[in-house]
Amino acid sequence: MITNTQNDQGMETFADEHKQLERLLERIQATLMRGPGHFYSLDKLFAELVERIQKHFAHEEQGGYYNEVVEQWPRLAVRAEQLQHQHTELLADVESIHREVRKIPDSTIGCRAIQVHFNEFAERCRAHEASENGLIQEAYSRDVGAID
Ligand SMILES: [Fe+2]
Ligand SMILES: [Fe+2]
Repeated sequence: MITNTQNDQGMETFADEHKQLERLLERIQATLMRGPGHFYSLDKLFAELVERIQKHFAHEEQGGYYNEVVEQWPRLAVRAEQLQHQHTELLADVESIHREVRKIPDSTIGCRAIQVHFNEFAERCRAHEASENGLIQEAYSRDVGAID
């Protein structure tokens, strides 16, 4: 059984990591908006993003977020599993864009290609995080209403 204190700490970390991730997505998008000449910075930012995403997903998977939802609110298990499955794809995508940054020329065309791929990735990543936030909110409101 998870205590309220454990839950509160877990949710704080969860919300904090989502905010940090969003800030990094915004920094990368702002750097891409500056046009060519910033691939060196982008390489570093993407390395940071890959590491941050790996750690964040590991915290969610091994730190108990998904297990808690499935254990305490079984009706939400399917949604929690779907979200967990998205991790593999999102991580593979960000790693692929990072490889692209290292491979393609730092030019207007190259920058535009990265921008298109990254904006599409960022949109899916934000949708994923928003769904997780929604799942947690729903879980707690169900808990209060004792529906499950
Ligand atoms: Fe996640
Ligand atoms: Fe998340």
